[in-house]
Amino acid sequence: MEIIEKAPAKINLGLDVLYKRDDGYHELEMIMASIDLADRLTFTPIKDERIIIETNSGFLPTDRKNNIFQAIEAMKKHYQFKGGAHVTLQKNIPVAAGLGGGSSDAAATFRGINRLYNLQADFEDLKQLSIPIGTDIPFCMEGKTALVTGLGEIVTPLSQALPQCWVVLVKPRVSVSTPRVFSKIDVDELGHPNITALKNAIENQDYNELTQHLGNSLETYTSAKFPVVQLIKEKMLQFGADAAVMSGSGPTVIALCDKHSRALHVANSLKGFCQEVYIVRTLNK
Ligand code: C5P
Repeated sequence: MEIIEKAPAKINLGLDVLYKRDDGYHELEMIMASIDLADRLTFTPIKDERIIIETNSGFLPTDRKNNIFQAIEAMKKHYQFKGGAHVTLQKNIPVAAGLGGGSSDAAATFRGINRLYNLQADFEDLKQLSIPIGTDIPFCMEGKTALVTGLGEIVTPLSQALPQCWVVLVKPRVSVSTPRVFSKIDVDELGHPNITALKNAIENQDYNELTQHLGNSLETYTSAKFPVVQLIKEKMLQFGADAAVMSGSGPTVIALCDKHSRALHVANSLKGFCQEVYIVRTLNK
């Protein structure tokens, strides 16, 4: 038996850090959307208890440090099923990029193992299991376009997907550690995007309004550390993007364009500058 799951990347159209909580996590308010850039995971059962991960990515550990491994271990502990799994990960989403690749792989693993061992797992239970592994996993389990709050566990789907547009992603050759960013920021010095205005713009399908309200509290910190982030953003706007913002803790910058020809122009213009450039759309379903 073989189970295949797709793991779509996510983008942050808005990310606001509200405050640091007593448990050390940060209270967030985000607008997130899944995109049509995805990893592909194949699951096959193993009779003994081993967890074996194979991947085409040279960047990822395949042991306990891997989110897929941790997700299977958490499920085995919680659901007490007998047997292991062989997972093949075809990695297409850039790693340590702010695109939620690791979280989406873990979410796909929860779905895949649930199907493989017919666990009939409760969605809320899986969400609880996921948080210590990655705070973007609850969103990745639901996908689409959502308001995400708390430390990432409260996912409220929006009534509408993004208005028709193209998204250009540019990932510079630097890797950002999310724990490091959160441990270094001074919450009192952060800017605050208007997440309510962003949410309303999407629900009203108002593209112009949407482009006015993209924003990310973490962008100033990551850009100061990696000036290339700001440079990419400036170039995207210079080449005609309607708006641009860093995704997650970075370093990927996303640009919105209402016309495909404009998105192509932005992407082609950035290709001489960065190797990893994609034109994607958000997922509606
Ligand atoms: O999402 P992920 O689990 O990869 O986050 C990595 C780290 O970032 C967390 O362990 C935590 O230190 C920090 N973080 C935070 N507040 C959040 C999400 C993540 O402080 N809401």
